[in-house]
Amino acid sequence: MTVRPIVTLGDPVLRRPARDVTPEELASSEVQELIDDLIDTMRGAHGAGLAAPQIGDGRRVAVIEVDHNPRYPYKPAIPLTIVVNPVITPIDDERYRSNEGCLSVPDLRGDVERYVRVRVEYLDRNGERHGDVKVGLTAGTFQHECDHLDGVLFVDRVGDPTTFSTWAQFDRFRRAAFVAEVEALTARVDS
Ligand code: NI
Repeated sequence: MTVRPIVTLGDPVLRRPARDVTPEELASSEVQELIDDLIDTMRGAHGAGLAAPQIGDGRRVAVIEVDHNPRYPYKPAIPLTIVVNPVITPIDDERYRSNEGCLSVPDLRGDVERYVRVRVEYLDRNGERHGDVKVGLTAGTFQHECDHLDGVLFVDRVGDPTTFSTWAQFDRFRRAAFVAEVEALTARVDS
């Protein structure tokens, strides 16, 4: 278990689509250690999720966890989830405005559109197959991490560049309205 350096915007590994993990690879100590390193690195950086390309690995593996995260106190809790070879499918067309940041894009936030309801099919670290429905901010977190595995960063999805901000300016000018929006969304869809 190791906290690994997080790759930042501009490194080509973040732009390369990651490749599927085979069942044999998933069972290997190398990929199991990669998963442990992703968990440690995510927790060490207080992230809500981390994808393998963010620590320089080109395989389709990501980890997600939200547990009273000081970076995101408005996010509903998500138990630690390991997603291998995930496929994400919107359930309907409804979207919400998600103000996002990324550990690979230090001190930048911006508004992106995310689907409110998605189905996520993936393997866990033991190779068990899952098909889960995720809604609201949790759905947004899964979409953000799955984007990383396709070489897509949240900055690519910011439709209005005037919404870009640093964390300090997010806290000053945007946080209150955003939290009110997403709390209303959570109350509506996440119960
Ligand atoms: Ni990210």
